[in-house]
Amino acid sequence: MAKLLAERGIDLIDTSTGGNNPSADIPVGPGYQVPFAERIRAETGLPTGAVGMITDPRQAEEILENDQADVVFLARALLRDPHWPLRAANTLGAEVHWPTQYARAKTWH
Ligand SMILES: Cc1cc2nc3c(=O)[nH]c(=O)nc-3n(C[C@H](O)[C@H](O)[C@H](O)COP(=O)(O)O)c2cc1C
Repeated sequence: MAKLLAERGIDLIDTSTGGNNPSADIPVGPGYQVPFAERIRAETGLPTGAVGMITDPRQAEEILENDQADVVFLARALLRDPHWPLRAANTLGAEVHWPTQYARAKTWH
């Protein structure tokens, strides 16, 4: 299927595994869908997104560094903490643009 989609020029595959189907038996654990993103990426050459219990900034960064996916998506972690990307940037020492309205919260003074 992914190969057919690649031929039709789609841009990216977000690799989930059918959790909305009650009969699907999906072993869940940290990064449990990453191998699917990695395989689709390798076999089609399409950019893929990895999602599924990616909760730690370093875990997310490693997925990208190891060429397992081109982008990391978060679902529940972002629902729990909408500021996850700002915290992750701080943990990883990355400089990101803060919303203008938040600028005064960037430092303690
Ligand atoms: C509110 C919500 C909606 C979702 N909708 C879909 C969907 O429409 N199709 C799908 O394949 N997965 C859907 N998922 C599953 C996510 O793509 C993802 O595989 C799953 O939440 C695991 O990632 P997480 O641990 O970051 O939450 C949804 C998850 C959430 C929390």
